[in-house]
Amino acid sequence: MKRKLLSSILALGMVASLLAGCGQQDTGAAPAADAAPAAEEAAPAADAEAPAAEATGDMPGSGKTVALCMPTQSSERWINDCKNMKEQLEALGYTVIDQFAEDDVQAQVSQIENMVSQQVDCLVIAAVDSGALTTVEESAKNAGIPIIAYDRLLMDTDAVSYYATFDNKGVGTVIGQTIEEKAGLKDLQAKGESKTIEFFMGSPDDNNALMLYNGLMEVLKPYLDDGTLVCKTGRTSFEDTCILRWSQETAQQWCENYLAANYADEDLDICATAFDGFAYGCKAALENAGYTKDNWPIISGQDAELMACKDILDGTQTFSIYKDTRLLASKCVTMVNAVCNGTEPEINDTEQYDNGKLVVPSYLCTPVAVDKDNMKELIVDGGYYEASQLGL
Ligand code: BGC
Repeated sequence: MKRKLLSSILALGMVASLLAGCGQQDTGAAPAADAAPAAEEAAPAADAEAPAAEATGDMPGSGKTVALCMPTQSSERWINDCKNMKEQLEALGYTVIDQFAEDDVQAQVSQIENMVSQQVDCLVIAAVDSGALTTVEESAKNAGIPIIAYDRLLMDTDAVSYYATFDNKGVGTVIGQTIEEKAGLKDLQAKGESKTIEFFMGSPDDNNALMLYNGLMEVLKPYLDDGTLVCKTGRTSFEDTCILRWSQETAQQWCENYLAANYADEDLDICATAFDGFAYGCKAALENAGYTKDNWPIISGQDAELMACKDILDGTQTFSIYKDTRLLASKCVTMVNAVCNGTEPEINDTEQYDNGKLVVPSYLCTPVAVDKDNMKELIVDGGYYEASQLGL
């Protein structure tokens, strides 16, 4: 009985700490650092010798199953997203089933159909193709199963209750502003000088990709228009620069082609890429073309993957966008609690994310640029990676 009381108090503490995390402004790693250890601290209590049913009896998730439907394990971030959500949900007593579709649209449809037939209590979906799930989303709705869109908006459906994501247009703005600063674009403009740039944008079936592009171009288009930035391939539109399924191999291939066809006489100065995987592809292409640290371009990325952070410290990638997956997971967990227990999650955007059927109530976390100067403070002190993992 005593143990049961203790676990109930701990469970309530967890919920309070998750909800408290919601009230903070997401301007840095601090809320995430709060959220993640809270989940870790609570987990052992749930294990504490008592039979599982007794230990989780009064928890918000007890008796409920959540399915996490993730896009791929080929990129590290989704593995971390899944792990963080799983830990945090299990600490609240939920049973969690996770599924990765390995970027196969049909596989994801089948996985979700299967979860619907198992009558899970909530579906959390990070889509492979955001518009390809409408039929299975409709069956979930008919079966009374609520859906949370995770990181990527679910398009053309009214079956989605909430959306937890980062400010996707903001990611593009931060990439643009950081390129502007690192390349000294204002100075170049004042002196009438220029730098060359090529673009590697995200998947056309992911709503995030176009939003990122729009944020990026808001910052960089004026420099393209006045000739401060020169794109020698002429490929500056979203249609010409988007890469299906965020393929690293395609980014490498494109970069190799561009270097061979357009940069024989003049160096490429900036690779504006929307994903760490693209940065790795560009890095390989540049190495193959004989670029060295003397003419290495500015290269952007997104996700602050471990390999990207190492490349940033080595100087082969200039910066990435830090999206703390612990924080995003904690926001999503508050949404799962809301649909499963009738509570209210914190929402901070009710305007931007129109999926064609409804404007989905969303929580947008704030993206931050990480480079070698703030790596230790943001990533190591924030507990995202250990100093030893980065060779620091
Ligand atoms: C996410 C990015 C990620 C990309 C490729 C996007 O939907 O928002 O963080 O880099 O997918 O996985």
